[in-house]
Amino acid sequence: MSEIFGKHERTCSCGSLRSSNVGEDVVLMGWVHNIRDLGRAGLFVLLRDREGITQVLFQKELGEEAFTTASGLASEYCIAVRGEVVSRGEKNTNDEMATGAVEVHCREIEVLSESATPPFAIKAHTEAKEELRLKYRYLDLRKPDFLKNFLKRSSVSRSVRDYMAGRGFLEVETPFLVKYTPGGSRNFIVPARLRPGRFYALAESPQIFKQLLMIAGFDKYFQIVRCFRDEDPRQDRQVEFTQIDIEMSFALEEDIYREFEGLVAQVWRDVEGVELSLPLPRITYDEAMERYGSDKPDLRFDLHHNVITELCKGCGFRVFEKCAEVGELIKAIRVPAGAERLSRKNLDELTKFVQREEVGPVGGLAWGKLNKDGKWSGAFTKAMKDEALAEISRFCEVEAGDALLVLAGPARKVNKAGDALRRRLAVDLGLISQSDKDWAFCWITEFPLFEWSEEGETWVSSHHPFTMPRDEDMKYLQSDPGRVKARAYDLVLNGSEIAGGSLRIHRPELQREVLRALGISDEEANEKFGFLMEAFRYGAPPHGGIAAGLDRIIMILCSTDSIRDVIPFPKTITGVDLMTGAPGEVSKEQMAEVKIKSIAENDDAKGT
Ligand code: AMO
Repeated sequence: MSEIFGKHERTCSCGSLRSSNVGEDVVLMGWVHNIRDLGRAGLFVLLRDREGITQVLFQKELGEEAFTTASGLASEYCIAVRGEVVSRGEKNTNDEMATGAVEVHCREIEVLSESATPPFAIKAHTEAKEELRLKYRYLDLRKPDFLKNFLKRSSVSRSVRDYMAGRGFLEVETPFLVKYTPGGSRNFIVPARLRPGRFYALAESPQIFKQLLMIAGFDKYFQIVRCFRDEDPRQDRQVEFTQIDIEMSFALEEDIYREFEGLVAQVWRDVEGVELSLPLPRITYDEAMERYGSDKPDLRFDLHHNVITELCKGCGFRVFEKCAEVGELIKAIRVPAGAERLSRKNLDELTKFVQREEVGPVGGLAWGKLNKDGKWSGAFTKAMKDEALAEISRFCEVEAGDALLVLAGPARKVNKAGDALRRRLAVDLGLISQSDKDWAFCWITEFPLFEWSEEGETWVSSHHPFTMPRDEDMKYLQSDPGRVKARAYDLVLNGSEIAGGSLRIHRPELQREVLRALGISDEEANEKFGFLMEAFRYGAPPHGGIAAGLDRIIMILCSTDSIRDVIPFPKTITGVDLMTGAPGEVSKEQMAEVKIKSIAENDDAKGT
């Protein structure tokens, strides 16, 4: 066998050869993607690397030793080849491969590494279960289609860095091992060996540090940073994820929108070759909740909600009347041409859908169809007084041939189910174009400062405790916290929250007041946030910022609905890394070192 690696340099990647390279002598290195043995005619190997695939031909006449070695190859062997680039001729050109016009006639080969039979085929659509693919993640990542996601991810990061540097933002690293502060997501905690009995928290975001950088006079900061949150992972959530984190001094909302929109436009230009039209649309939180039942509405399609609670008072249909009387919410969605497009079976399925716990639940789905002849069908339309039905129909702009779907019940559930119903209808009715990419951005503004937590029976921050309330609402901070709006904003893309931020409080008195409204006493505030309160005393500039979920942006750019498809080494829904086995056990000695009793010892002590 020849020696190629170390003797000859790799001349090009497996994705680069074109007709213009015909006649060149090349050295390629990569993995055996596929082998076709044509007997005496030769042996074709598709050689793959990060950039693409090249066809390599082995024939006795081209190199006997190489041909013999190639006959012993199997999938995923790692090899180096040397040979000449030859045209495949018009007839044999493979238009589906970027390198399809040429092939390499191999004179020399070196097997750099043999491969065991992979547990699943390295191709786009494998039958293999995700657990198996996660266990052998490094093999799954070899799949060309999958690898593309990471090439895109890298391009996005590069584009972000170029843009931010060009706009005068400093890239600064902040600590991961931090002090636990209440009021955010649940933190992972890390025992501090050198301070027995004490713990670090893993930073859920650089929030406090970026504010301290503003106090330090850094003026404009950014970082592409890992964040850690001990929450249940979901399709679009991981316990470790990456943010593009930004903070600016002397900035108001408009400054932040402008910088961030500029960044998004630059990324889309660099990565997608698309020119976004700026400024991006904005809607208020209240309007989003009313029209779409969600603070992250998918605006690629309409199917908006119509609030018909008032119109249902005395409408004749008891179920709606009761809801309206007790102050619940009634919303209707007009489905254009729904009379025909939604069959009885579809409607039964949609009814079951909105009754599911995770979707709403709401009691049911009332539906009516305005048929072509101008007559209504559907149970609630029969029970309703004609005038009420006519008024609702007018309000919702129902036309002959449309269907009207109505949800009634407690506001939170109706909104939740109404949002899910819009999204489901859009998929069922094919309203989201799959081919051309559709970018429906929108800012959601004027969020409430606090949310009521049923669990804790207290007010919690909608965003985080450092968010600035609106001037005109300051007076309600203690008396009516639910009424206070925040100077906070999210950016939503295709129904996914891709970024969130706010103007920050920069005066200690106001910060204390907000913490008090959250049930955090001055004493506790001093203990937990003393360093920040102290810092605010030294000429803190007005400041604000935003953080974008990089993984979510990449998900959308790669048209995937699983965040695991864009993170090289992700964790499962239960936070497990199936490849390394993390979280793993540690020895009694390690536990003793950090002064933590092991579960076993605790159990022993309890006599279990
Ligand atoms: P927030 O918590 O809204 O704000 O996070 C900002 C963005 O990060 C993304 N994101 C996540 N992505 C994947 N997995 C997760 N578990 C996850 N959690 C959040 C979302 C979200 O919009 N410090 C503030 C920002 C600021 O005020 O400047 C913060 O962290 O896309």
